[in-house]
Amino acid sequence: MSDNIDIFLNRVAGAAEQSLLVKMTLSKPVQKHDELRNIYVKPVLIKEKRLFAFTYHYERRDEVKNYDVGQMLGVLKEMLPQRFLNAVLFTVSEDVTLLVSSKGKATLQTKKVQECREPDLEHDKQKNRLINPSNPWWYQLGLTTREGKITADMQHKFKQIYKYAEIVESLIKPMKFDGTVHVADMGAGKGYLTFALYELLTQRLHLNVDIKGVEIRPDLVLKINEIIHSSNLKGLEFVESSIEAFRLEKLDVLIALHACNTATDDAIAKGIKAGAELIVCAPCCHKQIRQEMERSGKVDAITRYGIFLERQAVMITDTIRALMMEYYGYKTQVMEFIEMEHTPKNVLLVGKKTDKVPDRLLISKQISDLKQRYGIGTHYLETLLH
Ligand SMILES: C[S@@+](CC[C@H](N)C(=O)[O-])C[C@H]1O[C@@H](n2cnc3c(N)ncnc32)[C@H](O)[C@@H]1O
Repeated sequence: MSDNIDIFLNRVAGAAEQSLLVKMTLSKPVQKHDELRNIYVKPVLIKEKRLFAFTYHYERRDEVKNYDVGQMLGVLKEMLPQRFLNAVLFTVSEDVTLLVSSKGKATLQTKKVQECREPDLEHDKQKNRLINPSNPWWYQLGLTTREGKITADMQHKFKQIYKYAEIVESLIKPMKFDGTVHVADMGAGKGYLTFALYELLTQRLHLNVDIKGVEIRPDLVLKINEIIHSSNLKGLEFVESSIEAFRLEKLDVLIALHACNTATDDAIAKGIKAGAELIVCAPCCHKQIRQEMERSGKVDAITRYGIFLERQAVMITDTIRALMMEYYGYKTQVMEFIEMEHTPKNVLLVGKKTDKVPDRLLISKQISDLKQRYGIGTHYLETLLH
C-alpha cells in the first residue's frame, strides 16, 4: 500500500483515539457506476461507548453501521484505494485530504483550520429527540432530503408524525412491559407513523419491540420491508394481510390510525380480544353509522342538515366505540390528535386496560339510547364483539 495511504490511516487512527475526529468522507468511487456513491463518517456515543457511524450512501438507499476504531480502520483499508479515490479527514484542528489518481498515486494535503472545531457526538443528542429526521428511513420514506432536512411539502406530515409521537410517548412511558413490547399497527399504510413508533420505542425509550405493520396493499408492504431491511431494523416488519385475517400471538399495544370506515372496528375488536393493554386509534370515514342513520329516516333538529348529520354520525360512531371499550374494561379518552389545519381526521380514541369492573348495565343502556334516538340498528363493532 502507498505510504501516503498508510499515513492517512495513521492520522485517522490517531484522531479517533484522541477523540479529535470530527467527521470523514470517502468519495469518488473507482467504478464510475458503483451503486455505493460515498461514505460519511461521524463519531457517535452509544451506551457510553465512542463509536464511528458510517453512513453508506447508495444510489437508492442509505445504510448506517457503527464501528469501533479497529473495525473502522479495517473498513478503510478495504475501501482505500480499492473502492474510493478520495478521502477527507476533518479533525478539530486540520483537514487531511487523501487523493489517489487513477494510476494509483496517492497524495496527501493537510490544511490547518482557522477556528478549532468540536467533535459533535450527534447520536447522543439525537437519542433525546422524539423523531430524528436524519435517520435514513425518513429519506427513504420521502419525508426528508438525503441530508435529513424535511422537505417543504412534507412539513405538515412531519408535524403530524411528531405530535403523534408525543402523544404515544406520554401513553407508553408509564406502562410496564415484561420483556419485548408487542405492537400491531393496523392499516399501517406508507409506514410514516409506524416508523415513528419504532423510533420512539427503540431509540428513545430503549424498549425491545416486536412491531407488526398490518397492511392490505402488497406494493406498500414490499416497499416498506425493503426500507426496514436496508436499515437493518430489528423487531419491525410489515405483513400483508387484512386486519380481520391477521392472527395475533401476543399483543400489548394496538394502533389503528386512519384505518378506513369499519376497519377501525376490526382493529379495536382484535385489540380487545387479544387483551391489549393500550388501544390507540384515529378513526377515519364513518360510513357505516351514517348509512344506518340515513336509512332509518329519523331526523332531529340537528341531523336534518346534511353536514351536521355527517358530523353527528362521526361523533356517534366514535362515542359507541369508546363506550364499547369501556364495556370491556378499558378507560377511554377522546383527544385531539393534531390541529384541524393539518388533518380533519384529528380525533384520537385511546383505551387503557384497567382492573376496574365496568358498569356494563349502564354502558349498555347508554349505547342503546343513542342507537334508538338516531335509528341505528347495530354498530359494526357490536357485531364483532358480542
Ligand atoms: C389512510 S391510510 C392510513 C395509513 C397510516 N395508518 C397513517 O395514519 O398514516 C389507511 C391504510 O389502511 C389500509 N387498510 C384499509 N383497510 C384495511 C384492512 N381491512 N386491512 C388492512 N389494511 C387496510 C389501506 O390500504 C391504507 O394503506
